[in-house]
Amino acid sequence: MSHVRHVLILTVLLAAPASAQNLDSLLSRMTLEEKLGQLNLLSAGGRASPEQMQLVRAGKLGGLFNVMGAENTTPVQRIAVTESRLKIPLLFGLDVIHGYRAIFPIPLGEASSFDPEAAEATARAAGQEAAAFGINWTYAPMVDIARDPRWGRIAEGSGEDPYLGSLMAAARVRGFQQNIFATAKHFAGYGAAEAGREYNETEISERTMREVYLPPFKAAVDAGVTSLMSAFNDVAGVPASGNAWLTDTVLRREWRFPGFVVSDWTSVAELINHGIAGSQAEAGRRALTAGVDMDMQSSIYVDSLAALVQSNRIPLAVVDSAVMRILRAKQRLGLFRDPYRARTAPPATELRALARRVAGESIVLLKNERSLLPLAKAGTIAVIGPLADNKEEPLGPWHTQGRAEDVVSVLQGIKTKVQTVLYAQGSGIDDTSKAGFAAAVAAARQAKVAVLVLGERGDMSGEAASRSSLGLPGVQEQLLEAVAATGTPVVLVLMNGRPLILEWASDHVPAIVETWFLGIEAGNATADVLFGDVNPSARLPVTFPRVLGQVPLYYNHRNTGRPPDANNKYTSKYIDVPVTPRYPFGYGLSYTTFGYSNLKLSAARARVSDTITATVTVTNSGGREGTEVVQLYVRDEVASVSRPVRELKAFRRVTLKPGESRAVDLRVAVRDLWFIGLDMKPVVEPGTFRVYVGPNSAEGLEATFECIP
Ligand code: GLC
Repeated sequence: MSHVRHVLILTVLLAAPASAQNLDSLLSRMTLEEKLGQLNLLSAGGRASPEQMQLVRAGKLGGLFNVMGAENTTPVQRIAVTESRLKIPLLFGLDVIHGYRAIFPIPLGEASSFDPEAAEATARAAGQEAAAFGINWTYAPMVDIARDPRWGRIAEGSGEDPYLGSLMAAARVRGFQQNIFATAKHFAGYGAAEAGREYNETEISERTMREVYLPPFKAAVDAGVTSLMSAFNDVAGVPASGNAWLTDTVLRREWRFPGFVVSDWTSVAELINHGIAGSQAEAGRRALTAGVDMDMQSSIYVDSLAALVQSNRIPLAVVDSAVMRILRAKQRLGLFRDPYRARTAPPATELRALARRVAGESIVLLKNERSLLPLAKAGTIAVIGPLADNKEEPLGPWHTQGRAEDVVSVLQGIKTKVQTVLYAQGSGIDDTSKAGFAAAVAAARQAKVAVLVLGERGDMSGEAASRSSLGLPGVQEQLLEAVAATGTPVVLVLMNGRPLILEWASDHVPAIVETWFLGIEAGNATADVLFGDVNPSARLPVTFPRVLGQVPLYYNHRNTGRPPDANNKYTSKYIDVPVTPRYPFGYGLSYTTFGYSNLKLSAARARVSDTITATVTVTNSGGREGTEVVQLYVRDEVASVSRPVRELKAFRRVTLKPGESRAVDLRVAVRDLWFIGLDMKPVVEPGTFRVYVGPNSAEGLEATFECIP
């Protein structure tokens, strides 16, 4: 064959859109250095450095993250697809957690909506906006189950329940992946950090891992997530980023996951700190052979593994499998065909309207004595507190390109509803000065109601933000007491990234709303709820303890051999505080009231292959339209392993007019009542299952059915 003809074919081949067989051909032409280059991922500081551009030219980078804007991604991509030898396009990653520039509620807040469709919508919008700025891969959704509010990253997930967490994980994957790759993180068990201390060790039994922490990842995989991110923590002594049971046995052999695993930041290098590797090369070998395909930020794979491959301490087949997973992902994203992926962002008005709607659905009404809320749009309102006129904190702990200038503060939101507003900051968020108390008290004295906006700074939750206490920081509690002492009715608006201890407020303040960090429309959404333009419908995705000493405290706990009994000293409880939470999982109030009656099950006996339908009549017994989150819990009363006293297995948001009653159906496939048996395999055993249907995890009508073989 003439040289010219050979070159022509090669050029056409390289330029041609890659197909499966071409990827094999591409792989066969890659040098070992270029293969390890595809496994290398580095962070840029907004734009690629000259050194990073040189790595791209040399084929030693598979992706970059934190490159901001298409004006910065395009030139680097051009180097990859025109100047590198094999012209393999790059991935451009970013932590688009709950919005790109249009910031939506933090995931914990959005989970309060119990509305997976809302989560899918915000993820889709965030992915579309990010794609318009050159991003093709997000490190979200974070799907870690969290039972300990001391852990700051509880803010980034969907709370304590695997069922709600799984629905939210799948919804966010579907949403993001309409425009960019999604990454389910952090695989796995990160939320079980002992003592809620960030990055701490975890002691998770295989049964709890499979029943509680893994299900949201499985839901993300079933929803087609492209990548998983391996976690920093160890699991019973085996670090997640060097844990073949997680990233090979479970992920590849059991789940048949076709995507790829990226390490979290320098978690490959951190295997040395964990004490399971004595060198960078050994750390890289442990991680890669365990199933971590891409090395984020350590540069170990690209710098230290060639010699191990050449000496067969790492089989070349392991490298090739990892490279192929990444090439297939790039092919799936269409990068070989369209590396620049020019996209347009959704209109800002659309994003803002979505942000306001979802924020309104994420606000939990915790208390409303004597129907103080909703407020009338008349008279003088005092708006007080360090978060009242704050435009930064509502963005939350990880807000990507979100800007304070885009945020509507609570004060601004309230001013759109009433004319006469008195404002006093009152205090800082976590400083000790009370110099502002006098002005706050004076404002409260002149008002018919005082709205206090209190809580945390955005950076007091999220990564590297564990707290050893859970109260209102600084002197905010004293500010609340000083204002309440004026006798002016107080509405407490909370802005926070975790459950807080609210003992004094819960006993003395007539109205409390939990707003989490709601994003750019925080002020309008909060005002919509405070003044009744939106009837709150959110429910808690996490338990609020009474005191810190109860933590960890979660609803789906086992019964123990001596379940709490106030009349029996020798039962599982404390001598100084009730064992019940201040506010339970699934709890939330409305401006109307709902009643439940006539719970019926479709069958008294059912086989594993059957589906049980629970039908309950829900009545809006109040004076205005409202949305109830009807929740169905199940208890497997007797099994070969002790089972939780309740597990959420279905829920539905139901909107009813005043006086309206509706028969609501909730379906549960009996096969979904599995647990991990004594043989460590999933099983549904015959026996009695108790079904609870009601407004939260502490109440409800009951019925039972028999599961028969
Ligand atoms: C961080 C986080 C992880 C994030 C990654 C990239 O350390 O643990 O969630 O995606 O680094 O920013």
